[in-house]
Amino acid sequence: MNEILENTVIAESVNRYVIVAPKIAQRRKAGQFVIVRIDEHGERIPLTIADADPARGTITLVVQAVGKTTAQMATLKPGDCLRDVVGPLGAPTHIARWGTAVVIGGGIGIAPAHPIAQALKAAGNTVITILGARTQSLLIMEEEMRRASDEVIVCTDDGSCGMKGFVTHALADLIAKRGKPDFVFAVGPVPMMKYVSLLTKEHGIPTMVSLNPIMVDGTGMCGGCRVTVGSEMKFACVDGPDFDGHQVDFDELMKRQAFYKEQERLAYQRMQERCQAETLAQTNPS
Ligand SMILES: Cc1cc2nc3c(=O)[nH]c(=O)nc-3n(C[C@H](O)[C@H](O)[C@H](O)COP(=O)(O)OP(=O)(O)OC[C@H]3O[C@@H](n4cnc5c(N)ncnc54)[C@H](O)[C@@H]3O)c2cc1C
Ligand code: FES
Repeated sequence: MNEILENTVIAESVNRYVIVAPKIAQRRKAGQFVIVRIDEHGERIPLTIADADPARGTITLVVQAVGKTTAQMATLKPGDCLRDVVGPLGAPTHIARWGTAVVIGGGIGIAPAHPIAQALKAAGNTVITILGARTQSLLIMEEEMRRASDEVIVCTDDGSCGMKGFVTHALADLIAKRGKPDFVFAVGPVPMMKYVSLLTKEHGIPTMVSLNPIMVDGTGMCGGCRVTVGSEMKFACVDGPDFDGHQVDFDELMKRQAFYKEQERLAYQRMQERCQAETLAQTNPS
């Protein structure tokens, strides 16, 4: 059991959880994740360790409520416990001294991008971070990213904050005005990572992406997280989640992510109906 110390809403449908997990807090490295189960009947969901405090024995998760489990997690309060938190899982991000490194985080991908920006900066790189969100109310962790970077460029699809446009526009602009960076790391929605990788391939910039396929066990046993990288089959939970963006088959990843859409929709609908019935029973106890 892992106690939740803090659960704070930081943007529309996005919560930051501080969770007691002393061993994970000590061992985790940038790029690693945990698999969480809320209760003994719950499904196992992978979540990136967005930050950790080894002295306090805590890890920080930043989670967007997109379906049944993440919405249920958002209702938990400080003092409540998660049934289990397993990790750190996955291979840590390869951190080198590249020179100028551009870290790109799109949407909830800003949370996994945070420890990577921190580690690249600690390794002596000049870190330029590009943050992308659909609109200002969905932009997360700007302050933390400013602390982890030498420079931050914000862009929103609707222009409500920073420059108007996608992260790929900001990256193309940066390359045109200031030349090629030495390295790019991108994490966010699959189409975003695909188009960032196409752009950097054109310019010959080494690029890593952090993939988010459906994961079940997180230990290389079930095959759920299978991805194709450079025509080889890889398991993102043990071989990744980071891979060379120029080699990833993003179209296959998008198809595999959508495999269980109908089951996911039904599970969420059933949970909402159960919640409504419980609320009704509480307001009309007779
Ligand atoms: C390595 C990794 C790190 C991640 N880190 C974060 C994070 O830091 N913050 C965050 O908000 N989200 C993160 N995710 C995504 C998160 O795991 C899913 O949003 C979550 O599992 C959705 O579950 P649900 O029941 O709420 O929604 P559902 O309705 O079940 O699913 C909604 C969508 O989430 C994805 N998904 C569902 N189940 C899984 C699963 N078991 N594994 C992976 N994806 C799934 C699918 O694309 C699905 O269509 C990460 C995913 C991976 C693989
Ligand atoms: S999640 Fe089962 S093999 Fe990766």
